[in-house]
Amino acid sequence: MNIIEASGVGQSVDRIDGRLKVTGMAKYASEFPVKNVIYAQGVNSTIAKGRIIAIDTAEAEKLPGVLKVITYKNAEKLKNYEKELTSFELETVAPVFQTNEIHYYGQYVACVVAETFEQAQYGCSLVKVMYEEDKADIHMDKNRGKAFKPDKEADYSRGDMDKGMRDASAKVEETYTTPIEHQHPMELHAAIVSWEKNGVKMYASQQILAKAKKSIADTFMIPETNVQIIVPYVGGGFGSKLNIFKHVTMAVMASKMLGRPVQITVTRQQMFTNTGMRQFDEQKMRLGATKSGVLTALGHYTTSHCATNLQYYESCGNVSKMLYNTPNNEVTHRLIPLNIQVPNSMRAPGEATGSFALESAIDELAWKLNMDPIEFRIKNDTQTDLGAGKPFSSRLLTECLRIGADKFGWDKRKAPGTNKKGNWLIGYGVSAASRRAPYMKTNARVIVELKDGKSFATIQMDGTDIGTGTYTILGQTASDYLKIPIENITVELGDSDFPVTPGSGGSWGAASYSNGVRKACENLISGLQQKAGGKAGNSDSVAGLMTKSKLSTFTAEGTAEPSEAFKNHSVFSFGANFTEVWVDKDTGMYRIKRMVNVASAGKIMNPKTAYSQVIGGLTMGAGMVIAEQSKIEPNYGNFITRTLADYHVPVNLDLANVDVVFLPEEDKIANEMGVKGIGELGITSVAASIANAIFNATGKRMRHLPITPEKLI
Ligand code: MOS
Repeated sequence: MNIIEASGVGQSVDRIDGRLKVTGMAKYASEFPVKNVIYAQGVNSTIAKGRIIAIDTAEAEKLPGVLKVITYKNAEKLKNYEKELTSFELETVAPVFQTNEIHYYGQYVACVVAETFEQAQYGCSLVKVMYEEDKADIHMDKNRGKAFKPDKEADYSRGDMDKGMRDASAKVEETYTTPIEHQHPMELHAAIVSWEKNGVKMYASQQILAKAKKSIADTFMIPETNVQIIVPYVGGGFGSKLNIFKHVTMAVMASKMLGRPVQITVTRQQMFTNTGMRQFDEQKMRLGATKSGVLTALGHYTTSHCATNLQYYESCGNVSKMLYNTPNNEVTHRLIPLNIQVPNSMRAPGEATGSFALESAIDELAWKLNMDPIEFRIKNDTQTDLGAGKPFSSRLLTECLRIGADKFGWDKRKAPGTNKKGNWLIGYGVSAASRRAPYMKTNARVIVELKDGKSFATIQMDGTDIGTGTYTILGQTASDYLKIPIENITVELGDSDFPVTPGSGGSWGAASYSNGVRKACENLISGLQQKAGGKAGNSDSVAGLMTKSKLSTFTAEGTAEPSEAFKNHSVFSFGANFTEVWVDKDTGMYRIKRMVNVASAGKIMNPKTAYSQVIGGLTMGAGMVIAEQSKIEPNYGNFITRTLADYHVPVNLDLANVDVVFLPEEDKIANEMGVKGIGELGITSVAASIANAIFNATGKRMRHLPITPEKLI
């Protein structure tokens, strides 16, 4: 292997930004040195519904260092939500302080701007708000009558569900619930904003710069070209940084009013009320199968909640449309408006939670049929996405299940409640995973320079690295297509003035970004060949071509987009999860002893960073089962989980032995490089494999997450 192949696509290259990160040189949004900067902090409402009748800001304004207190009384006019329930999209406006109405506990009611962070924070405590309080709707059960169908995609059906259930000889009709969860990336939401003339430049921790830019431009009713967002490093997002949230709006408004750059950092407590969350889902499942294990019906009915002024929902039922070969299928989603902040996307929105219900119910049905749950899944496998009426571009689900079973030692599984070691009850569980592998139009720029006979390349795009390894895989891609060692390649991301990409979200980053870079590199080579004209040889290096055409620098751009073949297929990643748990029969305490994940996700660009992604997914999946839940105080509507001491996430000791296997695959229908996303596949169905293992250990079905020990005794 030569030096270029060693750093090319498919190799376990160390993160090219790793050293910068561990030495503290990588700058995150709140760390840029900006001259003359002042600090803003938000004041949160202490009621869940009603209106502000008076705000006394005098005491806060008298405080040394406090420059301004912004409330609905002195805020500038912004573009507001429509009268109807606005759908919360990636580019939805983020107005703040436009009325005195309160929609949820913790809504920003004022913003204190001061010379220092501490002065701003102290100032917040001195703002006195008087409310006229209404009875808040914070319980789904008390508001069932308000359930509505959010959009036309919310419902789907094929065949005849009731007939399918009549034809079944075994049935499962159960309800599964998953709690509100919060994304909580390590890096708090933060921004440093400078309003200049009729535009704004900001450092802001965001996942999708083009959408964030549009949201800000629309909110302030200025042209998009007047907005620049810079964020070379994002300390995790998990969906919480897909959108612009109102702290950014507050900072922009403050900068505009005071004529100085404004820094804002959202506190960990505010990240429970002001930067999104996963919704609570109640999923009713109806499944039927013949004696021989053929699925005859699959129904998936989700009820959840949205805000009273904004709607969003994760599509839990989507996974039930496409995963199994069932002629009769029905999916619905209903929302109940409540006085709680609007939910948003959290890692694998829809699949993470939907697969818990589906893959638990499949396990229950296999048990009723007295069938091995792996054989039951394989029997109902399909190469056609019946929900979309298209063939899958590739689907190696059976292979994932078989290879995983072998690796895990599935044949040693015993009947529920019979595998014992002292006080421990031992159980094995399995689940199937599927996640759409989107691919979207992406632009990239490549600049090459010739120095001392050697070529150096710089890649530029507005994509972001949210901790996943984007810098590295794009360096590898450029190294492959330019035949330049990765050491001589610089990747520049996270500037909205760079060529536009779909950003990091929805597991579309790796496939979209890398193909964009590929296109730019291909265009660069063909451009250089044209320049060199008759002198160009087919095997000339970039340096050779530049020398022949006497160029010291050359720039090319490229755009990659989905092909017809992509559009004519359903493109998904697939996987299987296997878990061994040990449950203490007296205390209900349990340990996850081993997990095996097998993933079929196209070409794996970098096994090392991919492995980290999947381990992260497995960890979050384990978190769904063992710990994570955000609880709402039932009378006032505030979250009573307010810190990472109350909101528990897994630690190393909770995970034990984790094995990840990537099946060798290149899906050329998905895109030219054969790459699919894995960011969200890794969390999908993990929870079900653990819950199914707990059933195998104890004989107890756990249909409500998280599964805390008291539920097992
Ligand atoms: Mo993802 S939930 O689209 O960051």
